[in-house]
Amino acid sequence: MVQKPSPLPAHVAIIMDGNGRWAISRGLPRLAGHRAGTENLRRIITACVEFGIKYLTIYAFSTENWGRPREEVEGLMHILEDVIDRELNELHKEGVQLRHIGHLERLAPTIQEKVLQAIELTHNNDRLILNVAFNYGGRDEIVCAIQKMLRDNVKPEEVTAELVSRYLFTAGVPDPDLIIRTSGELRVSNFLIWQGAYSEWYVTSTYWPDFDKEEFRKALDTFAQRDRRYGGLSETVKGNS
Ligand code: FPP
Repeated sequence: MVQKPSPLPAHVAIIMDGNGRWAISRGLPRLAGHRAGTENLRRIITACVEFGIKYLTIYAFSTENWGRPREEVEGLMHILEDVIDRELNELHKEGVQLRHIGHLERLAPTIQEKVLQAIELTHNNDRLILNVAFNYGGRDEIVCAIQKMLRDNVKPEEVTAELVSRYLFTAGVPDPDLIIRTSGELRVSNFLIWQGAYSEWYVTSTYWPDFDKEEFRKALDTFAQRDRRYGGLSETVKGNS
C-alpha cells in the first residue's frame, strides 16, 4: 500500500526544466538531457497513477522552443514520436488517457498521425488524464480562444471567466492545483497563464531528470501544508476576527 500525501492536488502541472544543464554538467549533449528527462517523466507518470492524481499536464515543447537549434528541435520531435512508439501500450494498460494541448499543425504529418491515434486509443481511460503541452503557449491559447469566441458571435456581455475557460485548449479540465518547476528558475514561461491564476507553486533547484518519486512526494507534502485562500482569508484568521 502506497503512503499517499493528503490532501492530494487533483491536477498537477509541471515545467520540466533543467534537462540541458543536467546534460552539460555531465559533459553530455543537451539531447541526452532530454532523453533522461523523458525517462524521468515515465517514472513520474507511474507515481501519479500510484498516488491517485487525476490530471497531469506537462510542458514538453513551447511555441518559443522553435527558436532552439534545428538539431535540438528535431531531437525533441523524435522523442515525442519515440515515446508514443515505446510507451503507448503500457500507458494504455495503466489507464492513462492521453490528450494534447497546443497546435499539432506545424508537426510532421507522421507525428500528428501518431498523436491522434494515441488520443483515440486511450480516450476511454480515466485513471490519469495526461495533457501533453506540445507546441503550446499560454498567450497563443488565449488569442485562439478570443478568435473562436468572435467566430461563434459571442456577445460582449456573454463573456465570463467561466466561458473563456471553456474556449481554452484545456476546456473541461479543472485548473491546476499545483504547478511544479524544476531547476530553480522563477518564471511562468507562458505556461497555463490563465488556468494558473490560483495555483500553488513549488520550485526546486533539482534538474528535471533527477526529480524522482521522493522529490515529487516532497512537492505533494508541501502542497498538503498550504493554506489556499483564493484571495480570501484563511479559516483561522476569519475565526479570530
Ligand atoms: C526544458 O529544459 C525542457 C524542455 C524544453 C523539453 C522537455 C521535454 C522533455 C522532458 C521530454 C519529454 C517530451 C515529450 C515529448 C513527452 P531545458 O532544455 O530548457 O534545460 P536548460 O534550461 O537546462 O537548458
